[in-house]
This record gives sequence, structure tokens and C-alpha cells, in this order.
Amino acid sequence: MVDDTLMHALVQAARAARERAYAPYSKFAVGAALLDEHGRLHAGCNVENAAYPQSQCAEASAIAHLVLTGARRIVAAAVVGVAPQPVTPCGGCRQRLREFAADDMPIWVADLAEVRARHTLGQLLPASFGPEHLS
Ligand code: THU
Repeated sequence: MVDDTLMHALVQAARAARERAYAPYSKFAVGAALLDEHGRLHAGCNVENAAYPQSQCAEASAIAHLVLTGARRIVAAAVVGVAPQPVTPCGGCRQRLREFAADDMPIWVADLAEVRARHTLGQLLPASFGPEHLS
């Protein structure tokens, strides 16, 4: 169970990561933060590239950091972006999160002022394919 304090810590970490985004092409900065199975936070930002398809989403950056520390589970996530609609993870990132998370993993979507939505991974990626299909 992830309490309000942890949710706010995640959102704040995602906001801080968003400040570091490298998004000169889209100008659309995104930050993400993940809570691992040890209670540690991992943040990431989007990193774009002049060869546009080589750009990396904020969630992917945060996952790389989580894996690098030896963690293997994502217990909760926050994504921060500024847009008219809440900035939910893109389709590819939903699958990336799925690799390390259960269907009931909460994903908070926030902007600079407030938390705008709470979803579970299962809501964003229903009937998904995952590692257990291969075992
Ligand atoms: N972006 C993310 O970092 N995460 C998402 O889930 C949605 C999109 C980034 C990719 C690109 O650098 C910019 O936002 C515009 O699409």
C-alpha cells in the first residue's frame, strides 16, 4: 500500500526530473519517478535526439536507473507533464513498466500544480503480455 506521503514524494521527484528533460525538438518535457521494492525512488526525464526515433521517454530513463541499482520491481509510478489532458505514459512505456510491475501498480499523473489522475497499470494496459508468458 502506497500512502499519500510516498505519492507526494514520487510526484515531487518526477517534477524535479522533468526540469532536467532534454527536449529541444518537441519542447515537451516529461519527468517520471518509480518506487521500487526496497522503498527507493528512481527518477528519469525524456532525452530526445536529432535522429528523432532515437529519443527516450522519461519512464524508460527511470526504469534504467531502477534496474541499474539492482531493483527488479516497480511498486508505484508518477509521471509529470504539462498539457491540457493529463500526461499518461505512452503505449510503449506502459509495456516497459509492465515488465517490472503488477496490474494493480498505481500510476499517478500530475502537472506542476496538482495530481490529475490515478490509474493502475492494468487499466492502462489491459490483458497485457508479460514475462510469465515466456516461462
Ligand atoms: N514522452 C515521455 O517522455 N513519456 C511519455 O509517456 C509520453 C511522451 C516524451 C517523448 C518525447 O520526448 C516528448 O514526450 C513528446 O512526445
